[in-house]
Amino acid sequence: MFAVQMQGIVKRFGGLVANDGIDFELKVGEIHALLGENGAGKTTLMRILYGLYTPDEGEILIGGKPVRIHSPRDAIRAGIGMVTQHFTLVPTLTVAENITLGESGSLLDLQQIETKVEALSGRLGIPVKAGTPVGQLSVGEQQRVEILKALARHARVLILDEPTAVLVPQEVQALFEVLDRLRREGISVVFISHKLHEVMTVCDRVTVLRDGRAVGTVEKSQTTPSELARLMVGRETFGVHRQGERPSTGVLLRVEGLNVKSRKGAVGLHHLSFEVQAGEVLGVAGVSGNGQAELGEVLSGMLQPESGRIWVGTQEVTGASPAELTRAGVGRIPEDRHASLVGELSVADNLVLDQLEHFSRHGVLDRNAVRRNAERLIAEYQIKALPETPIRTLSGGNMQKVLLARSLSRNPLVVIASQPTRGLDVGATDYVRGRLLEQRARGAAVLLISEDLDEIFALADRIAVLFEGKLMGILNTREATVEQIGLMMAGTPLKRSSVKEADRG
Ligand SMILES: Nc1ncnc2c1ncn2[C@@H]1O[C@H](COP(=O)(O)OP(=O)(O)O)[C@@H](O)[C@H]1O
Ligand SMILES: [Mg+2]
Repeated sequence: MFAVQMQGIVKRFGGLVANDGIDFELKVGEIHALLGENGAGKTTLMRILYGLYTPDEGEILIGGKPVRIHSPRDAIRAGIGMVTQHFTLVPTLTVAENITLGESGSLLDLQQIETKVEALSGRLGIPVKAGTPVGQLSVGEQQRVEILKALARHARVLILDEPTAVLVPQEVQALFEVLDRLRREGISVVFISHKLHEVMTVCDRVTVLRDGRAVGTVEKSQTTPSELARLMVGRETFGVHRQGERPSTGVLLRVEGLNVKSRKGAVGLHHLSFEVQAGEVLGVAGVSGNGQAELGEVLSGMLQPESGRIWVGTQEVTGASPAELTRAGVGRIPEDRHASLVGELSVADNLVLDQLEHFSRHGVLDRNAVRRNAERLIAEYQIKALPETPIRTLSGGNMQKVLLARSLSRNPLVVIASQPTRGLDVGATDYVRGRLLEQRARGAAVLLISEDLDEIFALADRIAVLFEGKLMGILNTREATVEQIGLMMAGTPLKRSSVKEADRG
């Protein structure tokens, strides 16, 4: 029995074919993963099912009958609910009010609404505090409210778009338990993800999308992570991992008592102190928005600290500008790729943007030198472009290679890499990780700020966790567990004795 059948779905955005004749079948009471790399077409397909996009071609059947879905209202009426990456809750209203918001005849009294919501949450095993304003809930709790809201409208099909992206590991576990419970209630779930291990944990079947096409649907019990990876990217992937320990030859980055004032809508940084040794990767983990962007900016000279001191090697660089930090030996891989490149300029020009003085003679840019530099770096970093290609036409992976080439070719003492693989495909991700490990092997100090815990575990020698702008502690990776890091990501500081241990490294 199928809850949903999508047949020959085509969706074009201008010249781009986001969904290219996709067939997708969802059985009643199954958890079905929609797996694929960034840009594969997962969100588009589910936005079509939820009535947010109209397909250019194709049919949708619900319970075996053809339906027309032109809006979320139609979708809800057909028993379909969707929880997106961006929540749609009103923070000042209570859980119960949010859940019943927009229901017809919802002028019930508050007590009655809360009782109703609590009954529903009890039946489904999704604990929520019905009378609490949503603004006071954690992200994981808000997600549960979104799920309940869909179920309160009698959804029999629940679409979750990358639901774990905003969760700490413990919350992921709790979400998986909720999904199990829903399956037992006969509800069908579409679980969108690009993470293989999650898909292997929670799903019954997996449909893999690649470049807008469905390249296969497999039973979880009949497949392996490497088969799924091959389907996703069209080849085997091996992953990139740190190997061996390196004897340290001294501290290259030192931060002491760093404070940064909180700006509107952002957290500040509070009393951060840490060191990164030569030949070491220090990973900074945390849920998005806990000070990672601010840390990257303050160490790049884009943001000035209120107090505290920073050293690169033996040189104090507190308060230095971005250009001064570059000269002191800091290479940055910034979080916002686009802001660090000039789209209209060529690859060659972008490669010298922040060191024009090295490519000028008597104040005149030496065009030949700029071109030779570009030819060398394009070859060395396998950038798919010509020196004269405008940056804006490059893929995300190739843009990142330009940034890597620009900062790493100068052999910096300290590398500050912020979310270096976010939004990249598997191939480009492996490439970037490999290059960062080369820097470690060369003896640079690498600060890896990443929201991807797998990446941190694969690359970092030690792991620091940021929560609300404070360091919850630093652990040696070989002694760290995902559970421990998860607790710290949720705000539980590490016990002091173990912090000292890790500091001695
Ligand atoms: N509203 C839109 N306008 C133009 N292009 C879009 C739009 N939505 C998605 N795309 C493009 O369609 C492709 C598939 O996107 P999406 O479905 O979001 O992928 P996924 O969810 O698998 O990462 C991407 O190349 C994306 O840039
Ligand atoms: Mg998506």
